[in-house]
Amino acid sequence: MTSSTSNARVAVVTGGIGGIGTEICMRLADAGRQVIAVDLATRSDRIEAFREHVSAYNGAIRFEPCDVSDFKACGGLIEHVERSIGHADILINAAGITRDTSLRKMDPQQWHDLMRVNLDGVFNMCRHVVDSMTTRGFGRIVNLSSVNGQTGQFGQTNYSAAKAGVHGFSMALARETARKGVTVNTVSPGYCDTPMVAAVPQDIRQQIISDIPVGRLGTPADIARAVVFLTAEDAGYITGANLPVNGGYFMSF
Ligand SMILES: NC(=O)c1ccc[n+]([C@@H]2O[C@H](COP(=O)([O-])OP(=O)(O)OC[C@H]3O[C@@H](n4cnc5c(N)ncnc54)[C@H](O)[C@@H]3O)[C@@H](O)[C@H]2O)c1
Repeated sequence: MTSSTSNARVAVVTGGIGGIGTEICMRLADAGRQVIAVDLATRSDRIEAFREHVSAYNGAIRFEPCDVSDFKACGGLIEHVERSIGHADILINAAGITRDTSLRKMDPQQWHDLMRVNLDGVFNMCRHVVDSMTTRGFGRIVNLSSVNGQTGQFGQTNYSAAKAGVHGFSMALARETARKGVTVNTVSPGYCDTPMVAAVPQDIRQQIISDIPVGRLGTPADIARAVVFLTAEDAGYITGANLPVNGGYFMSF
């Protein structure tokens, strides 16, 4: 087993081949981390494109398949990472899905599918790294929430509930791990220029942009910057916090 503390810190990024996840992987690698991008094995075309896209990183970014909604599979993934690369020092939970529809039309499947990925997935991954991080006295966990978890959004009772839950989970875990060198924070993106938001009808997207004080959609780079900041070696006094990255779309204190 490689010792991750003697070399580069090992960072596991779920949803790692997605719009925001890919950028997080690259920026963490730029910061000297050994990165494992985790995503669904079924996305074979996208996995190939991702591998090509990050090939210049010469092995500093690797892909590992895992369905984060499967507790056992997450355990197997972390074991594999520990055996082949080293203990996970950094965990970014960016895997996420939407199943938008008003509550009047939402069927239990749309509710449960979303919860299994967006909320259970965070538990499944954190549960398998927390012992090792606290024992070794270092860890950085960043969970991707959303502005829509803070404000609620029409057609997103499932998504808003899960994303609000992600921050509640993060605050609770932050308390459990604070004395062991492990920080747990959330980053709440506003609307970003990614496939998830490209799926929103054009007229609604224009309305959203006109409501953003900065006057544009966010970029994956805007989000990755916040994640890299929270995972720095000297970010140990920031824990249980939510860092909104939304162009001023929602401000609170
Ligand atoms: N794009 C936005 O505007 C926006 C805004 C707020 C929050 N977010 C959150 O940021 C995160 C990243 O979003 P994105 O825009 O990159 O979305 P994306 O759809 O581009 O990426 C999400 C990734 O998660 C993966 N995924 C889905 N189910 C999975 C599972 N069961 N196991 C493993 N991987 C799985 C997908 O394959 C995909 O690659 C998500 O949690 C999302 O909810 C995004």
